[in-house]
Amino acid sequence: MEQVIAKVAGQLVKSRHAIALTGAGLSTESGIPDFRGPNGIWTKNPEAERQAYESYYKFQRDPRQYWVESLTGASWLTALFKARPNAGHDALAQLESLSILKCVVTQNIDNLHQKAGSKKVLDYHGNISLLRCFECNARFDPEEYDLERLLAQNRLPPLCRRCNGVLKSDVVHFNEAIPPDVARESLEEVERCDLMLICGTSATVYPFAMLPRTAKQNNYRQKTVIIEINADPTPLTREGISDDLLQGKTGEILPRILEEVQKLKAAGR
Ligand code: APR
Repeated sequence: MEQVIAKVAGQLVKSRHAIALTGAGLSTESGIPDFRGPNGIWTKNPEAERQAYESYYKFQRDPRQYWVESLTGASWLTALFKARPNAGHDALAQLESLSILKCVVTQNIDNLHQKAGSKKVLDYHGNISLLRCFECNARFDPEEYDLERLLAQNRLPPLCRRCNGVLKSDVVHFNEAIPPDVARESLEEVERCDLMLICGTSATVYPFAMLPRTAKQNNYRQKTVIIEINADPTPLTREGISDDLLQGKTGEILPRILEEVQKLKAAGR
């Protein structure tokens, strides 16, 4: 493992445009369960996953009721607001401040990359700290809307200040399209990258899981080094999409990679 960590650090320092793709495994060390790991939310409660598939249809059928349930029902999302970044998030933010990591494309909605100080973050599945207009895709800080007052006055759903469209959470529900701006920019980053760290994702949910495969397919014109950091092997490992799997906790491995990168930078490499 130590040899591979040293090799990856060298590849990162030499890279021209390194990016990180992240999933729920990165946030488990912040106390947020993942979905499909041994203690995953869907693993332990398949009914919760089935209901999650309903959310988008509920919104389309009756946005007012969607909002009433969002504001009055208990939700596992509440815990996300209190969570703090862990050493894995911090290491990625520091690799960005060293101008080595250019972008994070995350499936996580918990805003922990931003809390850790990462500047260029593409929230592929949205972000719990934002509202998004279903019509024009404009995003708003919930603080701009007194949602509790709208609930009390029976004036839900909140409406877009730009086009008067209906607002929903920025979180992308199952069967909902990835916001077009994020989808486009993520693909641009994947097309451009020559090194991709894939941290804490089972790589089973599309279209996100297509991104590493797209990078691999582009190898004919530009070799992209693909490194997985994950507790378990994934389909990317088994299909030979990733060049290396650093098997273990992202909160331990990413800081070790950062340490080796800092040593190389200090030695003027
Ligand atoms: N360090 C490294 N890997 C970890 C850690 C950790 N501390 N904890 C868990 N893992 C691994 C798990 O073994 C698993 O392979 O991270 C992966 C998490 O996979 P999932 O739970 O499937 O999460 P993710 O890939 O992000 O899910 C994708 O599915 O339900 C949707 O929208 C949701 O964005 C989510 C998407």
